[in-house]
Amino acid sequence: MNRDEPSGRPAASPDPAALAAAESVALAPGPSDLRWRHPGESDHPRLVALVDDWYGGRKVHLAFGRFLLMHFASTSLLAETAEGKTAGYVVGFVSPDRPAEAYVQAGAVNPNLRRRGIGRQLCERFFTLARARGARGVVCPVWPGDPIAVAFHRALGFEPESGPGTMRLYGTLAYPDYEYDGEDRILFRREI
Ligand SMILES: CC(C)(COP(=O)(O)OP(=O)(O)OC[C@H]1O[C@@H](n2cnc3c(N)ncnc32)[C@H](O)[C@@H]1OP(=O)(O)O)[C@@H](O)C(=O)NCCC(=O)NCCS
Repeated sequence: MNRDEPSGRPAASPDPAALAAAESVALAPGPSDLRWRHPGESDHPRLVALVDDWYGGRKVHLAFGRFLLMHFASTSLLAETAEGKTAGYVVGFVSPDRPAEAYVQAGAVNPNLRRRGIGRQLCERFFTLARARGARGVVCPVWPGDPIAVAFHRALGFEPESGPGTMRLYGTLAYPDYEYDGEDRILFRREI
C-alpha cells in the first residue's frame, strides 16, 4: 500500500437511519451493569490522567490529545460502572481520506475489570459505529512489546500488516520506528 495515497473516493453521506440504528446498538446496556456513552471534552482531564497507569506505565498520554474528544466523540465510546467509575474507553474514527477505513487511536480497560469481555465489547461497538459510516475495515496500531495487546487483537480476528518495511519484532510482524525513533508498531487490520 502507498501510505501517501488517499483512496481518492469522497466519503458518502451516511444514511441517517443506519446511523441511528448503530447508535442504539453501540450505547445499549450489555450483559453487565455497565453504562455506555460517548465521551466528551469534559472527560479528557480524567482520562488523560489515567491512561499511562492503564498502559502499564508507558507514556501514552502524549498521544491522547484533547482534540480527540473534541472531534471524534461520536465514534468513540466510554463504559462506566453503575457507581460512575471508568471501566474502559475506545477512541477512534473513520478516516476522512480513506473512507472505507476506520482507525483506533487508543483503547484500554480498567485494570481491575479486565478479562470480562469489556475490551471486546468496546471494539465491537466501535465497529458498529464505523460500519454505519461506511468503513469496511479497521486498523489498530499496537506496540509489539505488549503481549497482552497482541493476544487481544489476535483474539478479535486482527492480522498484522505484512510486506515491505515490516520485520518480526517481539515475535510479530511490525514496522520498526513507525511513529518515531524507537516507537515500533504492528498495524493490526481486520474487516468489519
Ligand atoms: C488489551 C485490553 C484492552 C483487553 O481488555 P479486556 O477487557 O481485558 O479484554 P477482553 O476480556 O475483552 O478479552 C478478549 C480476549 O482477548 C484475549 N486476552 C485479553 N487479555 C488477555 C491476556 N491478559 N492474556 C492473554 N489473552 C488475553 C483473550 O483471548 C480474551 O478472550 P477470553 O477472555 O475469552 O480468553 C486490556 O488488557 C488493556 O486495557 N490493556 C492496556 C491498554 C492496551 O494495551 N490497549 C490496546 C492497545 S491500543
